[in-house]
This record gives sequence, structure tokens and C-alpha cells, in this order.
Amino acid sequence: MKALVLSGGTGTRLRPFTYSMPKQLIPIAGKPVLRHVLENIRDIGVTDIGIVVGAPDRHIAAALGDGADLGVRLTYLRQEQPLGLAHCVALGREFLGADDFVLYLGDTMLPEGIGALAAEFAARRPAAQLVVQKVPDPRRFGVAELDADRAVVRVTEKPDRPRSDLALVGVYFFTAAVHRAVAATGPGRRGEREITDAVQWLITAGAEVRAGEYGGYWRDTGRVEDVLACNRKLLEGLRPSVSGTVDAASRLTGPVVIEAGARVTGSRIAGPALVGAGTVVEDSRVGPYTSLGHGCELRRAGLEDSIALDGVTIHGVGGLSGSLIGRAARIGPGAGRHRLVVGDDTRIEVAA
Ligand code: G1P
Repeated sequence: MKALVLSGGTGTRLRPFTYSMPKQLIPIAGKPVLRHVLENIRDIGVTDIGIVVGAPDRHIAAALGDGADLGVRLTYLRQEQPLGLAHCVALGREFLGADDFVLYLGDTMLPEGIGALAAEFAARRPAAQLVVQKVPDPRRFGVAELDADRAVVRVTEKPDRPRSDLALVGVYFFTAAVHRAVAATGPGRRGEREITDAVQWLITAGAEVRAGEYGGYWRDTGRVEDVLACNRKLLEGLRPSVSGTVDAASRLTGPVVIEAGARVTGSRIAGPALVGAGTVVEDSRVGPYTSLGHGCELRRAGLEDSIALDGVTIHGVGGLSGSLIGRAARIGPGAGRHRLVVGDDTRIEVAA
């Protein structure tokens, strides 16, 4: 069995971050989303993984390399234009060969892993097995309708009037039977070749398509709110450890990780919280539900329910909450005024 991970897409809802990095590299609990995805795949015993990346993207290869440190072997496949998920499978045709594979959208967080679903697929090997979850508003997802025996009788991409509340979460198990379906699938309503349409083609052709319901926590990390919610969820499972230094004037409560080379002085860190390698926290309050990247510097700062990426500097500003702060951003006090030097599509909410 192989895996195909889709990591293209423009990530418009995560601007301004996605101007300078793909959304799949946004860190959640200190690790890029894509690393969480690859670990889930490795944990079902699949090590031969193709990653479809967008055209101008060198970031993903720079971050993940050949996958050796994760114990997997990565093959990069380039998609010049975002022509849809089925197009990605077509791109992966040669890499996938005749093998079964799991197709995994690279911004999908399933922290409880996909072991049970993989076992279900392996036991029965239907042409396709979709991972679904009940959602209150299925209209922004692919939607599956099942019969009493959990066979999928129809799938529809983002229907205006959904006939079931089972959304496709973005993980699919396939046998090589899907390649004929993909070859037969043209662009759908939004101009992309939809994997949902390829699955419907299989159903219409009489192939067995099944659904496995995922009962665990699921988020697609397409928006800032989802990224922060997911960060909270993952931090809840944090195992405390202190590798850096914490002085006697500081207090850590709850699960806190202080990575190597980090230095905490005169501060309160309320777990769950993660202080990345080489980060300095001085006379500050951090947490709960906060992760700081590598090489950040917080002095007289207050930050909760937030993620700071690498190299962030916060001096003399407290009360920050619900924030996602990009790499090397600097936040400090103004001389009696607010002064903003911010990039395109930045969002700022100040306490009035
Ligand atoms: C894609 C799929 C959709 C699925 C969703 C899960 O939609 O087309 O069927 O439910 O991922 O996140 P997209 O995120 O490309 O709009």
C-alpha cells in the first residue's frame, strides 16, 4: 500500500501566511500540519508516500526532505495548476502503479490516527472506502449517502440540499480500480476534476464503495479559527517536559513543554503550553493553549490561546489572545499611539 498526500492549493483563507508558506506547513502544537499527516500514514505501516505540491513550492521539500527522519520515503509530484483532487491522482498514476493507496488531503488533522479505518479497508478491499463524519452543515463538503449495510449509494460534492449529514473528511482508501474512474472524470461545477465525481463513477459502474465513520476529532485547517482550535486540542495531550532552563522566579502550571535551549525567567507559563527550542521568555505570562516556535523572544509580554511561529518578538505588550503570529513578526509598544506595519490581508483586532 502507498499513500498520496495532496499539498497544493492556494490557501486563500489563511492569508497572509500563505503568501510566504503553504498552509500545510503552519505549525500545530509545534509541528507542521503535514508532519502530523505523514505520521498518521507511517503509523498504519505505509512508508512509500507521494506528495503533490503546488507549482512554485520549494518550502515543503525544504521542510520535509526525503522523509528519512520520519521513517518514510517521499516522492514529490508537481502540480502546475490547481486542477482538482482527481487531477492529483492522475498525476500520481505512475508513482502509484497497481498498488492500493490512501489519498490524504494534506491539511486534514485527525489526531486519533487512521488505524481502524485502514484495517477495515484492508479486511474487505472495496474499490473505495471513504472516511466520513457527521457534521451539522454538510454543504461545504463532499457528502455520502449510505444504505443500511454502509455501502455508499451516492456521493455529491458540496450539495445545496444535502441528503445526508455525512461529510467526506478528506481521507480515502482506494484500490487501483480508481484510475479508470479518474481517467473518465472531467471538470465539475467549480472547474476542477473532483475526486467525488470519480467515486460516483465507481458507484455507477457497480464497484463496491464503502464508508468508514471516523468518531474522533477532525478539522481541516483551512482557517485561522480551525488552526487555533486544533492547536488547543493537540496541546491538551501534551506530555510535560523541561529541556531548557527555568529560573526559580518562574512558575509552570499544567502540562508545559520547554524545549532545548529555551530560557524562561521571571515568568508564568500556564499549560498546556509549548515553548520552542531557543526561545526566551522573560517577565511574561504565556498560556494556556499557546505554542511558541523556535527562537522567539517574549519580554514583559502576555499571550494566551495563540500560536507564534519561529522568530517572533513580543516586547512590552500583554493581553494578546486568539492570535496567529507569523514568522519573525515583531510586536512592541508604541509611543502613545498604535503604529502598524502590516502585510497584505493581515487581520488586526485591538481592544478599543
Ligand atoms: C475537499 C473535497 C470534499 C471534502 C473536503 C474535506 O473539498 O472536495 O469532498 O469534503 O475536501 O475537507 P475542498 O477542501 O477542496 O473544498
